[in-house]
Formats: sequence, C-alpha cells, structure tokens
Amino acid sequence: MPLKTYKDAGGNPIQFMEIDGIRYPYVEGVDQDHVVRVARAAKARDDDVVLITYAKSGTHWTWEIISMLCNGKAETIPTIKQMHMIEAISSDELTSLPSPRVLNTHFRFNDLPEDMRKKKTKLVLVHRNPKDVAVSHYHHHCKLEALYKYNGTWSEWLPLFLEGIVDVNSWFDYVKDWEKAIEEHPDHPIHLMFYEDMKEDLYREVKKLATFLDVSVSDEFCQNVAKLCQFENMKNNKKGLENEFWTNVWADRKPSFYRKGEVGDWKNYFTVAQNEQFDELYKQKMAGSKLKFRFEL
Ligand code: A3P
Repeated sequence: MPLKTYKDAGGNPIQFMEIDGIRYPYVEGVDQDHVVRVARAAKARDDDVVLITYAKSGTHWTWEIISMLCNGKAETIPTIKQMHMIEAISSDELTSLPSPRVLNTHFRFNDLPEDMRKKKTKLVLVHRNPKDVAVSHYHHHCKLEALYKYNGTWSEWLPLFLEGIVDVNSWFDYVKDWEKAIEEHPDHPIHLMFYEDMKEDLYREVKKLATFLDVSVSDEFCQNVAKLCQFENMKNNKKGLENEFWTNVWADRKPSFYRKGEVGDWKNYFTVAQNEQFDELYKQKMAGSKLKFRFEL
C-alpha cells in the first residue's frame, strides 16, 4: 500500500495514502487503493447529484443544503456527508443509499466514475479562496491526528500547502483542472459556487441551487434552508451524528468539522512575508485563469 511520509519545513513528519499520485488521508486497515478504484467505476443513477470540492471549501455546508433541497424538507440531515462520499465508502454502501443520492467527492473530473461522465450527472462545484482554505486545511491536518499523524506549526506547514503536499494535492492544480473540465465539457451540467458568495447571501445562493437542481420549492422553503444552514445552527444541530470511526480519528475525540466558518480568517495566520509570497505564487499559478476569488467580504 502506498503510504508515504513527508517532512514539513520544521522536520515534522506528515503521512498520506498516495494513489496514482493523489494524496488521501491514510486509514489503517482499509484497502484504500481498492476503495478508490471501485469508486471510479461506480454506476450512476439518473437523479444523482454530486458535490465536488477541494478539501475545506464548504463541503459539509453545501452537502447539507443540496440534501435538504433534494429531500424537499427543510430539516437537519440526520447523518454526516462522509457517509455519502464516493471515495470513502464501499460499493455496497454506495448502492444501498436511497435515491435521490446526494454524493460528494474531492475527485478531479477525469477521476469521476465514467458512468457519471457519460450520463452527465449533475455536478455542483464549490470553490473557496485559497488563503482561507490553507488555514482550514492546516487545522484539518493537525486535528485529524489518526489520519495524518501531524503536529507542526502554521509556518512549518504553509510550504507544504504551497507545494501541494497535502490531502487532495495542490489547490492551484485542482481549481485549474476543474476550470479546464468546464471549458472542455460545456454540455455537462456543472453549477459553480463560491464559499464567499454563500457567506454574503445564502438565501440567494440556495435559490440559484434550487433552479439548477430543478426542484420546485417556495421562497419560504429556501429561507428556512438558509437559516438552518447558517454556521452556528449547523454547528449545534450536526453535533453527535458522527459514527465511532469519525469520532476516533480526531485528536481529542471531539469532531470539529465546524471550526470558525468565516471569510478572512487567514489574516490571523499569514505574516506579511507569507502573504506576499502567496500572492506572488498565486499570480504565477493562476495566470490565464478566469476564476476570480474574494479574500474578504
Ligand atoms: P474553517 O476551518 O475556516 O472554519 P469542508 O466541509 O469542505 O471540510 O470545509 C470545512 C470548512 O467549512 C470549515 O472552515 C468549516 O468551519 C466551514 N463550514 C462548515 N459549515 C459551515 C457553515 N454552515 N457556514 C460556513 N462555513 C461552514
């Protein structure tokens, strides 16, 4: 099994499972290679919806919203999005999910199950500005101790993020890969959203999503979804839904996928020099991209 260990700038080790050059959290005792290959071969259903994100871009948040819209009920979903993540569950689990399935994944377009690409399964793609992603991803790697076995400082970790030696690899490559996929597959229904737009006006974004998903719901329903999915409400309402595995992987056995939920938290972490270095790299890596990110509201 391709378990790989790297060192951060301070010499602290960090571990990943690598499959075809892509990094995943390492889960002891699971044949992840097999799970990922089976996931890529999954069969699509006509009413599937797949949420696509780079890690820490608002997956839990958007999955909850899409699930409420597809269920036609503005009620907290009594499970966690990990149980609907294509590359994290077995093919039996995937098959036994009731329709309409709201799946989620960090896959790139070409890693999506071929059947989903062929059947043009509806995709919702959520992006978030990379500075806030970097900070959120740092906490994720430190807190999920059983998966990454990592304990370093922010400054020691940032170079790993810049090089893409993190879960899901380089943020820059990921968003550019999806930008290219959208250009090359104009007939594939892909709804692009931004975390910052959701923070700015969630009701507006829920309504746009409802239109894309072609679900007939009232304005009041969308208001209720937006309210239930505000950060504090989700943080409270989603408590205690994790299973044993998703509790035990956290450093203090206290799952915390709902950390701060803000735009601009990066300002509390980046030094002036780190920010300048980041902006320079961003300019180089994103040259030619039409994507526009907001780093503050
Ligand atoms: P922070 O670490 O910046 O707080 P993902 O679900 O893709 O792993 O993303 C996790 C990030 O989304 C975390 O960011 C988390 O707090 C934030 N998040 C989760 N639910 C949210 C919500 N309802 N509103 C805003 N942000 C949310």
